[in-house]
Amino acid sequence: MINRLIAWTIQFLPERFIWIFSKKYIAGKTLDDAVRVVNHFNAQGIFTTMDVLGESLDNKEQALKFQKNYFKTIKESAKKGLKTSFSVKPTMFGLHRDFDFCHTAIREIIALASGYGFLVRIDMEDSNCTDPELKLFEKLYIEFPAHVGIVLQSYLKRTYSDLQNILKISNPKYPVNIRLCKGIYIEPPGIAYKKKEEINFSFLNCLDLILAENLFPAIATHDKPLIQNCLSLISKHNKDKKEYEFQMLYGVAPLLRAKLVNEGHAMRIYVPYGEHWFHYSTRRLKENPHLVRDIIVGFLVKK
Ligand code: FDA
Repeated sequence: MINRLIAWTIQFLPERFIWIFSKKYIAGKTLDDAVRVVNHFNAQGIFTTMDVLGESLDNKEQALKFQKNYFKTIKESAKKGLKTSFSVKPTMFGLHRDFDFCHTAIREIIALASGYGFLVRIDMEDSNCTDPELKLFEKLYIEFPAHVGIVLQSYLKRTYSDLQNILKISNPKYPVNIRLCKGIYIEPPGIAYKKKEEINFSFLNCLDLILAENLFPAIATHDKPLIQNCLSLISKHNKDKKEYEFQMLYGVAPLLRAKLVNEGHAMRIYVPYGEHWFHYSTRRLKENPHLVRDIIVGFLVKK
């Protein structure tokens, strides 16, 4: 109850306050900040996926500015030899307003990235985006099967069936690269599982199918017991360490991350950066309101 109240309060907090929390989860506001963080992870044998922050399009000029930022990030990553991929949010490119414009903008990003051998992943946003984002992925996968990936959210009741549809288009030469996560948006109970056990059951069910059908899973979670169950599934399917990876968010669960890396599992960290950090941060705060409470308590105790 208190956490829910705190989550509601977040929208009224000043940006300066949100930034105190955000610093931990965002590489910084500039490309140099992001490159520094990526280099730091690469030096430890950890891959990254870089996300230029920004959501929902105000106008096409703004979308083209986001696209330019991606071009710059991709070129700089190639120049610096970074071991990274890129994540894009289609609403930044007007997914709902103009699908064709969005497709063209993201297609151009993937075309550039593929020239350097990079992968670009289509992030999955709220449930209004699920159909158009899957459609976008399908179109792009047909053209760039080795350079585009997608995300599935285990909290959505439709996800197993979406996965079965993806299987129908998967090219065995370029198995579809699927980031499997629980899902971060607040969705109605009619379409989404709400209980942790149900979400985790769905997660494992999907992972089982991904592994059985030889697609490439990027297992994106910080949930320790769930990771243990994922590792059991990986053993059950006799997978080599090259046939899957774990993914975590920058700033979250560093000890668990280190444990998996030490055991030799491939790890990729989601590294968001950019001027438009506010929406990303408030979404994370709403998901973990206890962090706001901790910051407030810390602030009061210092005083
Ligand atoms: P769970 O929520 O049960 O958390 C497990 C533990 O991790 C908690 O005990 C908590 O301590 C810690 N933790 C988790 N998140 C934290 C945070 N933000 N801050 C501090 N501690 C935290 N979602 C989506 O809808 N679309 C997407 O495209 C993506 N992309 C994506 C990429 C990557 C690399 C990751 C890791 C996650 C996503 N997500 C996402 C977010 C995902 O759906 C989910 O909301 C979060 O990962 C949290 O869920 P967990 O699986 O970690 O479990």
